[in-house]
Amino acid sequence: MVYQVKIPSNIYGGEGCIEKVKEIVEKEHAKKILIFTDKGIIATGLIQLLLNEIEKTGAEYCIFDNLIPEPAYQDVENLMNEAAHHDGSLIIAIGGGSVMDAAKLCSVLKGADYNIKDLLKNPGLAKKKIKTVMIPTTCGTGSEATCNAIVAIPEERSKQGIVNDSMIPDYVVLDSQMIRKLPRQIVAATGVDALAHAVECYTSRKATPISNTYALASAKLIFHNIREAYIDPDNMEAKSNMMLGAFYGGIAITASGTTAVHALSYPLGGKYHIAHGVSNAILFAHVMEFNKDACKRQLAEICDAIHPVMAEAGEDEKAQYIIDEIADIVKTTEIPVSLEQFGVSAKDLDFLVDAGSRQTRLLVNNRKELSLDDIRNIYLKVLP
Ligand SMILES: NC(=O)c1ccc[n+]([C@@H]2O[C@H](COP(=O)([O-])OP(=O)(O)OC[C@H]3O[C@@H](n4cnc5c(N)ncnc54)[C@H](O)[C@@H]3O)[C@@H](O)[C@H]2O)c1
Ligand SMILES: [Zn+2]
Repeated sequence: MVYQVKIPSNIYGGEGCIEKVKEIVEKEHAKKILIFTDKGIIATGLIQLLLNEIEKTGAEYCIFDNLIPEPAYQDVENLMNEAAHHDGSLIIAIGGGSVMDAAKLCSVLKGADYNIKDLLKNPGLAKKKIKTVMIPTTCGTGSEATCNAIVAIPEERSKQGIVNDSMIPDYVVLDSQMIRKLPRQIVAATGVDALAHAVECYTSRKATPISNTYALASAKLIFHNIREAYIDPDNMEAKSNMMLGAFYGGIAITASGTTAVHALSYPLGGKYHIAHGVSNAILFAHVMEFNKDACKRQLAEICDAIHPVMAEAGEDEKAQYIIDEIADIVKTTEIPVSLEQFGVSAKDLDFLVDAGSRQTRLLVNNRKELSLDDIRNIYLKVLP
């Protein structure tokens, strides 16, 4: 098997590592910086930690915060139009996956002779125009590690990933201070998203020795820390581990790819605007239960890594342990387990089955093929 992975070339970690931004700006000789964020981050005051470092360099900066969570491609286009009037030789994104994805898209769109609609049709067109620095403020998407950017497509009431090597971030700053005060429900949703990346990538048909290494490291960090990070917001060790686990999960995505959990989750985000981590969490254990017979060995290997006391147990028992752990984590972190509270009901089933089955980019990675009936049965389990 021939395999490859593209990873960011400069990675800083540890509480307080945002101070490295000064070094990055100086190394890049950046005199004008484009900062991407959103109003939620501005309200936390976190941006000041970034501005303090930039101000030490004397560089000018411009802040773009006009972005909603889980943006549609038109929202990114509007942001891009705003940024088009400003010069800059470095992009810094400080935010969750929504901000980082939008910033990555802007890094290939600024000054380009193609637009975002062209990229949706042909992601191969993308060429990096400006280097990027990613400062994640959630502990989930791993977008800081990936070449992917995900946007909603309102016309199709779904979401689509734009994937191109040139969107790989140049610098990543994993500072756990960013998630110190992250609201608990976002710790939960983004943390389970990261766990889904790890487990889906490890069980993916496209898994490689490299993706397996990162997926397993990610699974260990997240299984062992997500409950603590949720229950005790001041547990900074757990939070640092979550940040690293999410980053490793991102590398695993680039190296292999997520599977049916993410595929079936896209229409839930695209049409009903359910947060990405929440829609994944609702489907996660059910999809793994469906996959169990085809992914038994992989799930058992995850069990060996996170729960070695079960070494003597059979594959079946180990695989079930992982599925039960996933369900328990979703329950402990108080994420809804049904679509009821989002107003989704049986009348939406046909739409969901049709839109879910169109996510072939990810469904092909699933070790067990899903028929339309299989997809219907999975959605039925989470409908009221
Ligand atoms: N590129 C990839 O590889 C990849 C992978 C998975 C998901 N995604 C995408 O990422 C997006 C979801 O990103 P997300 O889950 O990180 O959330 P998000 O970026 O949508 O943010 C959710 C909310 O949390 C707030 N927030 C973020 N950090 C905060 C902090 N430290 N304190 C207080 N509030 C904070 C934001 O202001 C926002 O209101 C989706 O569009 C999803 O499709 C991308
Ligand atoms: Zn995800």
